[in-house]
Amino acid sequence: MFKSLLTLPLTALLLVTGTALAEGKAPILIKFSHVVAEDTPKGKGALLFKKLVEERLAGEVKVEVYPNSTLFGDANELEALRNNEVQMLAPSLSKFEPFTKQLQVFDLPFLFDDLEAVKRFQKREKSRDLLRTMTAQNIYGLAYWNNGMKQLSANRPLPKPADAKGLAFRIQPSAVLAAQFTALGAKAVPLPFAETFKALQGGSVQGTEGPWSNFASQKLDSVQPYITETNHGSINYMLVSNPKFWTSIPYKTRTELEAIIEEVSQRVGDEAEQINQRDREAVLAAGRTKLVSLSADEHAAWRAQMEPLWKTFEKEIGADVMRAAQTVNRR
Ligand code: LMR
Repeated sequence: MFKSLLTLPLTALLLVTGTALAEGKAPILIKFSHVVAEDTPKGKGALLFKKLVEERLAGEVKVEVYPNSTLFGDANELEALRNNEVQMLAPSLSKFEPFTKQLQVFDLPFLFDDLEAVKRFQKREKSRDLLRTMTAQNIYGLAYWNNGMKQLSANRPLPKPADAKGLAFRIQPSAVLAAQFTALGAKAVPLPFAETFKALQGGSVQGTEGPWSNFASQKLDSVQPYITETNHGSINYMLVSNPKFWTSIPYKTRTELEAIIEEVSQRVGDEAEQINQRDREAVLAAGRTKLVSLSADEHAAWRAQMEPLWKTFEKEIGADVMRAAQTVNRR
């Protein structure tokens, strides 16, 4: 009795975990680094990926998650991935600009009406193709993840585009985002995510943009007296690995990892909106910042001010990608 209880689980374990344990090989290690907090769409996605891998590929693959720029930050994470010092990242799509201009389509203000439209586009072939445009540069796209629609925070309310004039805004490094603020007569200051709070607190910049989950988890509302709800764009991610590392994983294990990634990506997309709504309510309940809502006319004025950027960037992005993106709204 005692013997069978001990041996049965071990036999089962060896069967489930395949060769790695049986052959005494060390598990494949995936270090997953990111720049946000754990209780955000991306942070939760990374932890769910770790959990499912450890349940389904125990002994074969081990995942270590490093949130909050604790292993690598915006300044060096993509370089680290290309050198295989880290095996998984999920940078915002804005951060791939040095490697491909086509992903700039996701930064164009007011191009997508809402997160559902973004998700529909991410399922289209043109968008799926973009996952593999950086392989030659050692960046292998595995999936899209979502966060939420971006709002504008500042030290004053911004009901009209002209209200942003003269202010300096922290941006992610992206030519589209820089052009967005230049079009407003404002200054765009690219800074790593981890430096945003300090820059706002110290006053070197007076505003920024982002989804509610990033405002809440970074406590940006404590240093920004107003958040204008513009929904002018969104933050989305590409889950990426190093292509040499990824294809070195034995086929069966890789197929299982890719199935897990599909499941996790679906969950991240399904829960992103909910997490942002939760964080919106928490920020408003905390009362440190005032919400500025736009009337339909104000929203239209913001949109009219930003729309010319679509044409400016169409050539770099590609007319085919732009056309595909413009068919996903339900207007
Ligand atoms: C930012 O830099 O604002 C974002 O890309 C951070 C993130 O990963 O959501």
